[in-house]
Amino acid sequence: MPRDVSTPAGARAVTAVAPAKINLHLGVGDLRADGYHDLLTVYRAVDLWERVTVALVGGDSADGVGPDDDEVIVSGPGADQVPTGRSNLAARAVDLLRTEAGVQARLSIRIVKGVPVAGGMAGGSADAAAALVATDRLLGLGLGRAALEERAARLGSDVPFCIRGGTALGTGRGETLAPLLHARAEQHLVVALADGGLSTPVVFSELDRLRAEHGADRRAGGVEPLVEALAGDDPARVAGLLANDLEPAALSLMPALRRTLRAGAEAGALHGMVSGSGPTCLFFCADREQAIAVAAEVSETGVAREVRLTRGPVAGAHVIDNPQQTPEQ
Ligand code: C5P
Repeated sequence: MPRDVSTPAGARAVTAVAPAKINLHLGVGDLRADGYHDLLTVYRAVDLWERVTVALVGGDSADGVGPDDDEVIVSGPGADQVPTGRSNLAARAVDLLRTEAGVQARLSIRIVKGVPVAGGMAGGSADAAAALVATDRLLGLGLGRAALEERAARLGSDVPFCIRGGTALGTGRGETLAPLLHARAEQHLVVALADGGLSTPVVFSELDRLRAEHGADRRAGGVEPLVEALAGDDPARVAGLLANDLEPAALSLMPALRRTLRAGAEAGALHGMVSGSGPTCLFFCADREQAIAVAAEVSETGVAREVRLTRGPVAGAHVIDNPQQTPEQ
């Protein structure tokens, strides 16, 4: 049974939200010795949110507590596909800060999904980001953003960006961020969810296989023209510069996505592409009106499990005082 987490925030429970990410540019370099690929990416946070409540549930033990003692409750679309044991990224985030603080307390972690599960939009990373921010507040640790992002990088390549939000250039394995503060123009897009998910490591491996077989396909190229275009307010110019090196691998593993991309193009979207490692597809639009029209048309074709409207950029992970509150944009 879910525990009561309606006690005042700051006392026994804290709720934080974290946004989904998309990659406006995702350039994938070679496979490194550590199993990761060097990336050059432009991240953008969009207004689909994960909501994580971390609560003290007592049962403090001098023998020590670990992730197996915590309670993880997941609800919302796709919740049944999210692990609730120690492999849950939010549970690992909570345990990391608790161990570091030397706190012996059992915690309850309640996750409400708003980001597609295994969809290439960093839903699990957003859970970890929100969990870090909530636990920092709950345990009164007072870690600054830089310290939280350093812990975030240990949990996953996309977790630091889910804390940061906005629009940022990502390098390394994606965890090293430089904010693109000038990239302010609002962007409207349609998110088309697929049946089933794709595993990120499997998609990266498929890209390695395709490159070994057919030669290096590094379509994404340089990022400067996009970074420059993001300073302006011309959605068509930005749309013409979007690129994702992982797309051929996602399409190879899930060829049905070609139909989804075609449906978006036929509906008049400025640009369609696979989101990150997929299988979610994104359709970039000139404005909200066009996004509404594209969403309706793609939905009608029946190629997607679900179609949602979204926009970016939005803020990164933050605590909300009232669990019903709408996230800051
Ligand atoms: O960092 P994260 O745990 O989210 O990455 C999941 C997997 O995705 C990695 O284990 C790796 O196989 C792949 N990956 C990669 N290069 C990156 C990021 C992720 O190959 N830059």
